[in-house]
Amino acid sequence: MSTSRPSVFVTRRIPQLGLDLLAPTIDLEVWPGELPPPYETLVEKSRQVDGLLCLLTDRIDRPLLESAAPRLKVVSQFAVGVDNIDLAAATALGIPVGNTPGVLTETTADFAWALLMAAARRVVEADKLTRRGGWKTWGPQFMLGPDIYGATLGIVGFGRIGQAVARRAGGFGMRILYFDHKRDLEAEKSLGAVWTPLDSLLAEADFVTLHTSLNAGTFHLVGESQFAKMKASAILVNTSRGPVVDQQALYTALSSGQIAYAAIDVTEQEPIPGNDPLLSLDNLVIAPHIASASIQARNKMALMAAENMLAGLRREKLPTCANPAVYA
Ligand code: DGY
Repeated sequence: MSTSRPSVFVTRRIPQLGLDLLAPTIDLEVWPGELPPPYETLVEKSRQVDGLLCLLTDRIDRPLLESAAPRLKVVSQFAVGVDNIDLAAATALGIPVGNTPGVLTETTADFAWALLMAAARRVVEADKLTRRGGWKTWGPQFMLGPDIYGATLGIVGFGRIGQAVARRAGGFGMRILYFDHKRDLEAEKSLGAVWTPLDSLLAEADFVTLHTSLNAGTFHLVGESQFAKMKASAILVNTSRGPVVDQQALYTALSSGQIAYAAIDVTEQEPIPGNDPLLSLDNLVIAPHIASASIQARNKMALMAAENMLAGLRREKLPTCANPAVYA
């Protein structure tokens, strides 16, 4: 390994476009496994490199960062969410953390809609039923679900992705309510969305879709008392982070009929353990955290993560930095 070139550990094989951008000037080591490197390996590797290009499945905590600094100059995350990284520790150690906002917005909004529609119109249930020979005839009361067109959509978290979900709702003639700590008057006007206190949104919405980041304020944002406020016909969609929903309370709400259905891309523990009671429910559609998994979005994420890495190694400001306080 040349000593004049910076070295970077990439914690999984990301799309080649990103690796190609890094390879000419950097000594790259890419973790070859299909599963993330074990934490101890991650700590060990981080101590030996100038840059760490990581995924949301890697725990980048204070002990890791402290043992890797001061050699480690930059952490570049291949994701927009950075709840797996101790940003405060990184900032205190002077390590900028890059992320990939923007490029997965539309892709994730598409998938939130895929889940919403799959749940409302029982697509997964219908598929399973058909395969096991349950399609006996066309029936007037067979596999009914609620209309999406004209229904009330409640969007919790009205950032980039929440607003992209709202844009799509226009085509379905929906009434759009949103809750966010910040009101966005411009978006309200252009999207016809109405800011609504969370409790009222939960009570009025036919579909509740979550688009907040995970932090201390959003942990278990939707739990027992929130489910109690929702309509019995309500459908919950979660493409944000698993711990935004209290998963035990979700199981109770779904199994007791407190709400009608849920469609989730994320769970409190990922992957969800095979014996989790949620997996026994027919009124749940579940996907393995793939909301941003389009070819185009993943290519753009790879490029963006590589650009952040290159800037960090040159000691330049990261194009997209999750802890801008590091430059203060
Ligand atoms: C992100 O980028 O945070 C997404 O969860 C990845 O799909």
